[in-house]
Amino acid sequence: MKHLLGIAGLDRSAIEGYLDLADHFAEVNRRAIPKVPALRGKTVVSLFFEDSTRTRLSFETAAKRLSADTMTFSVGTSSVNKGESLRDTVETIAAMGVDAFVVRHKSSGVPWQVSGWTNAAVINGGDGWHQHPTQALLDAYTIRGAFGSLEGRRIALVGDIRHSRVARSDVDVFTKLGAHVTLVAPPTLLPPSLEGWPVDVAPSLDEVIEELDVLYLLRMQRERTNEALVPTLREYTDRFGLTAARAARLPEHAVVLHPGPMNRGVEMAVDPDELRGSLITAQVTNGVAVRMAVLYDLLAGRDADLTDPDALVPAVGSVPTGTDPTARTSGRQA
Ligand code: NCD
Repeated sequence: MKHLLGIAGLDRSAIEGYLDLADHFAEVNRRAIPKVPALRGKTVVSLFFEDSTRTRLSFETAAKRLSADTMTFSVGTSSVNKGESLRDTVETIAAMGVDAFVVRHKSSGVPWQVSGWTNAAVINGGDGWHQHPTQALLDAYTIRGAFGSLEGRRIALVGDIRHSRVARSDVDVFTKLGAHVTLVAPPTLLPPSLEGWPVDVAPSLDEVIEELDVLYLLRMQRERTNEALVPTLREYTDRFGLTAARAARLPEHAVVLHPGPMNRGVEMAVDPDELRGSLITAQVTNGVAVRMAVLYDLLAGRDADLTDPDALVPAVGSVPTGTDPTARTSGRQA
């Protein structure tokens, strides 16, 4: 069984394969009824032990648009509160007949552990400071959409790199796709060692802002630290925040990304709705198509013919916009 636990196991062509597949699903998502029967009969469970708005709903939307059934596990109302272990929880849910688990946990390595306890596919929806592979894939997809390719693009990741699983996955994906990545953060918010990271480091945003194609702002992860890693948030914003003055110095063609949730007035010290080049909403929209690609790849197999009407025709009763419905109903219907 294939899993998506991190970016390390993906080479450039595997990453590009996901992005190309996401193009097909982005087309599905633009239809009047954005639903296809590709994963009919499959069950996808979101197993989230840590808070989430975007990632959980994005995966559930993706699964539903592929006609999979979805189940949501919420730790707050589960028997974990009665002391049930992680392993017993996973094995209990797996026994119901599950095809994929999307796992988020505050400890690094949990999705990998889960993959040893079940025959279902496991997708890492964010583990501790470690990895968040689908976020990195949707970020790369969004940047590719803006520039055609990441090759040679100058990308700055700004902020709390140390605690960020998004940064770790992004650096890996962006550099594998040929981008040049600079980390911009105070030393206290950089990882203890950058050995093996194919990146440059800059001590302030002002040093690099005029040369960027992509400005990627990270959230200050206050829940992952109780140490004072920056003197005050005000001083952080002064050196690393995107203020209106800094936004005006970005090149005309530059784009701005943020994984959400944003700290307005901290790293995002300008109204994002007024921000030229903001792709923050596009990231959320693209996330659904990218997660459809991942679910489809893991559960249906990448070799399935995407032009096969059985795989991508709309579910019963829906008609794609701008196409002749009769041309698409030759295959078996739901
Ligand atoms: C991120 C996460 O949870 O890792 N959010 C997300 O998934 N979009 C980033 C963050 O919490 O800062």
